[in-house]
Amino acid sequence: MVNLRKFCCVSRKNDEEAAGRSCPSSRTSSSSCFADQPWEIFSLKQLLNATNNFNDSNKLGEGGFGAVYWGRTPAGGEIAVKRLKAMSPKAEMEFAVEVEVLGRVRHKNLLSLRGYFAGGEERLIVYDYMPNRSLLGHLHGRRSYDHLLDWRTRLRIALGSASGIAYLHHEASPHIIHRDIKASNVLLDAKFRPKVADFGFAKLIPDGVSHLTTRVKGTLGYLAPEYAMWGKVSESCDVYSFGILLLEIVSARRPIEKLPGGAKRDIVQWALPLAESGKWDQIADPRLNGRFDPAQLRNCIIVAIKCTDGCPENRPDMREVVRLLRAGIGSRRVKEVPAVDVVEEKKMIGLKKKEKGKEKEEEEEEEAIMMTEPSDFFCIREKNESMIMR
Ligand SMILES: Nc1ncnc2c1ncn2[C@@H]1O[C@H](COP(=O)(O)OP(=O)(O)OP(=O)(O)O)[C@@H](O)[C@H]1O
Ligand SMILES: [Mg+2]
Repeated sequence: MVNLRKFCCVSRKNDEEAAGRSCPSSRTSSSSCFADQPWEIFSLKQLLNATNNFNDSNKLGEGGFGAVYWGRTPAGGEIAVKRLKAMSPKAEMEFAVEVEVLGRVRHKNLLSLRGYFAGGEERLIVYDYMPNRSLLGHLHGRRSYDHLLDWRTRLRIALGSASGIAYLHHEASPHIIHRDIKASNVLLDAKFRPKVADFGFAKLIPDGVSHLTTRVKGTLGYLAPEYAMWGKVSESCDVYSFGILLLEIVSARRPIEKLPGGAKRDIVQWALPLAESGKWDQIADPRLNGRFDPAQLRNCIIVAIKCTDGCPENRPDMREVVRLLRAGIGSRRVKEVPAVDVVEEKKMIGLKKKEKGKEKEEEEEEEAIMMTEPSDFFCIREKNESMIMR
């Protein structure tokens, strides 16, 4: 049995990066510390049996950490098993951080940890299996043709992912910065509900610490400029990555595209001029063929542009992002009201919702998203939001 606390702390000594990762002080041994956790320590044999000896035909995909395999437990449940490809101190740290962080968090929009195995050279992490795999495949891959994500599902994915990240930043204790928010790390369950995954690069932020300086990790195209250039990491780096993801969700464009001459352009550079000249519908995924609510689209783009502000201090925090997205989803109700009042009304909707409690709020959200019917498309004359400046 692996004592993760010890495991994490031993690895820390070898990694200057660990400055922001604290081991759980209240947890003193693996048996007592995880007693209340709904996950288990698997044996290698159990996972070999579940995945048919890590058979190639069970392979779901492969990432930097290693391959991911589909498996079935003796009880009939479906699992996904991530297998470390090559042991190194860095990889071992990634494994420890992933298990440690996932073991702490529980939220409907975060991928749940089912358990792990650590022995010899093997490091295996077991998750709930997500039948609709990653958002990446639905935006850019083959699955984007087999099953085009409709507008309502996209809104639900954006809002759910934002809620999961907001939980990490504001509710988890200590606070957690994910550092690798991107489309392939948003997994979709059978009902296309999003679950943010992959916590191997995460940082636990001790109370009172506003930012840390670290070695840069993450994925090109999603990195906040202050992080990419100076390694300055704070919650607002995730906000930036989420902004990129949000633009990707509405447009189905990649975060970075290669232009014909070989130059590269990021998704914000592409979207911003269109937004500034009020050409919102040109930012929407053309495959939606106009089947979106223009007010909701405009709101998503404005939120994304705020999130990707070059200056981290100007970005909203994730709680604010959730609030703005929710208010925007309900924006059809206030479509006739002048812009300045819309803001007030959205605030009021937000306040009223707060009072009604979380469950009711979720029902309303769902309802608001469902209210978007094709007959209502293009009924709002869009204003040129020239105030968007960067
Ligand atoms: N719990 C899961 N359920 C279903 N499919 C999964 C699950 N976890 C991962 N996958 C699949 O495995 C693929 C590889 O995942 P992985 O996280 O290892 O790599 P990645 O996200 O593509 O890249 P990176 O290493 O940069 O995070 C994913 O794109 C996804 O399709
Ligand atoms: Mg991943």
